[in-house]
Amino acid sequence: MCGIVAYTGPRDVAPVLLDALRRLEYRGYDSAGLAVLQTEESAPSLTIVRAVGKLDNLAQAISASDLPGQTGIGHTRWATHGRPSEANAHPHRSGPLAIVHNGIIENHLELKQALRAEGVEFQSDTDTEIVAHLLHKHLSPHGPREDALREALRRTLREIRGAYALAVVCEQAPDFVLLAKNSSPLVLGIGRGETLATSDIPALLSYTRDVVFLEDGELAELRPSGVHIETLDGTLVQRRSRRIDWSPVQAEKGGYKHFMLKEIFEQPRAIEDTLRGRLDLESGSLVLNELGLDAETARGISRICFIACGTSYHASLLGRHYVEKYARIPAQTELGSEVRYRDPVFTKGDLVIAVSQSGETLDTLAALEEAKRHGARTIALTNVLESAIARAADSALYTHAGPEIGVASTKAFTTQLVAMLMLSLELGRLRGTLPAPELLALLHALLEAPGSLRTTLEAHEAVLSVARKWHQSQNFLFLGRGLEFPIALEGALKLKEISYAHAEGYAAGEMKHGPIALIDEKMPVIVLIPDDRTYEKTFSNLEEVRARDGRVIAVATEGDERVKGVADDVLYIPKVHEAIAPLITTIPLQLLAYYVADLRGTDVDQPRNLAKTVTVE
Ligand code: G6P
Repeated sequence: MCGIVAYTGPRDVAPVLLDALRRLEYRGYDSAGLAVLQTEESAPSLTIVRAVGKLDNLAQAISASDLPGQTGIGHTRWATHGRPSEANAHPHRSGPLAIVHNGIIENHLELKQALRAEGVEFQSDTDTEIVAHLLHKHLSPHGPREDALREALRRTLREIRGAYALAVVCEQAPDFVLLAKNSSPLVLGIGRGETLATSDIPALLSYTRDVVFLEDGELAELRPSGVHIETLDGTLVQRRSRRIDWSPVQAEKGGYKHFMLKEIFEQPRAIEDTLRGRLDLESGSLVLNELGLDAETARGISRICFIACGTSYHASLLGRHYVEKYARIPAQTELGSEVRYRDPVFTKGDLVIAVSQSGETLDTLAALEEAKRHGARTIALTNVLESAIARAADSALYTHAGPEIGVASTKAFTTQLVAMLMLSLELGRLRGTLPAPELLALLHALLEAPGSLRTTLEAHEAVLSVARKWHQSQNFLFLGRGLEFPIALEGALKLKEISYAHAEGYAAGEMKHGPIALIDEKMPVIVLIPDDRTYEKTFSNLEEVRARDGRVIAVATEGDERVKGVADDVLYIPKVHEAIAPLITTIPLQLLAYYVADLRGTDVDQPRNLAKTVTVE
């Protein structure tokens, strides 16, 4: 996830771009850059300034250079392809034009090969640079520049696959910015004698409150006099602008009250980004080239060991299920802070997967290094490119969830589950333990997951009314079996982290060995009971709770009248493949934790005593 901005109008553009980038910095902050179209000379020229690290470094670099000009583009980067470096920072240039990009170009490898064969030299490791060269290649030397540029962009967009918000400036087209969107967000701002475009509303509110949202498959043009929108095939789009009256703080959170809520609702998009370019339905396989796995390596793995802390540990408990079921490899899950002090046994046949949103958690990193010392093969499963854990492991599988700001982890968790499932399926395919039709069904199930998540999120009001009913309770018990047990643990962790209520997650079958003593009419028991192979067993546990006057909030599959007949409240989820169900049952639990905490008035995004990244032991 990155942030982009474009401006044309009467103002000095560099400070405008920098100001907008500051407001977009939450979307990524490992490097930044801008391109300014200087028109003071007789022939307009582009100047590009880029810097690694926080925006202050870019601001310093800009103050050292003279950047007159009223049209330009800017970018703040959150690396997905190519480590954070000045060469990989945007804008990327080819000939007379420069571009910034937020998104991922899926078919970048094949396009790069083709361009290289034509003699194009690449300056960066990014997928974005390909778009710049394609645009340049298609830019006809004839006719009005704006028309040539628009046509070149159309041809380029027909060749690329993936997600993008793109902004293009060209030396031969002053006072003009060309934009395109697919999947990644782009908002246009219409001011007086000036127009701009940004990845998010907050970045443009200092200049105008009149905005137009660009839709997927549309191109837009910025001129000082106004914006022009059309579809990829050239049909004019007339869309009325909307007036935004959010406060600046509201705006930063995209209109949501807290970052956590925004991140919960971002999950369908985050999962799409995790899946992007990695499912090959035609060959019935997964594209995980970054791991360098082949059939021989996969068959040589004697054990898989997940190592993680906190929410990542809960995801890893599910990872074990996926690996055992689909790849038929013995698997275990370890807490980073425990395994390293246990004199653990790691061998050369082990594949150790360190799972960490931040890629910085010290206990996870130290345990990974310990495993490496014993000759284990290692993979980092993380959200942050070039993080310490990513660098320490032999290879890295990135989740591409985008920066997570709320301390309580949400979208990082569900994207970790998706990455683990993909990895397990690929291992199963390579080892021959997963029949092709079953694999294909699972690939389709993965593709449909974002849609099911959206449907589940639409029912948020139902979760809010349950939260209103129970938010003053002091104790909560979460029960789940099989794939739902880790989700019960995660649901309890989420609730206690941000609401400060006591919450415990338990394996449903273990309830009778202890927690059953706690049950009374005051304690809500959240029972995860989707329509899966353990349904009947979990139903018995649910009845055991009811028989002791316990209060049941069930998370069940749409249409389940039987559960409705016995539970106090039911939160329904759509029917999905069994392997996907844990992703979906997570949603009502995240929302429940959020609403309970908000009703209790806690500091949701920065709960007391917690930290987002834990680099102490
Ligand atoms: C902290 C965070 C949690 C996170 C855990 C592990 O406790 O508050 O949200 O799950 O660290 O972090 P990691 O970055 O390794 O996933």
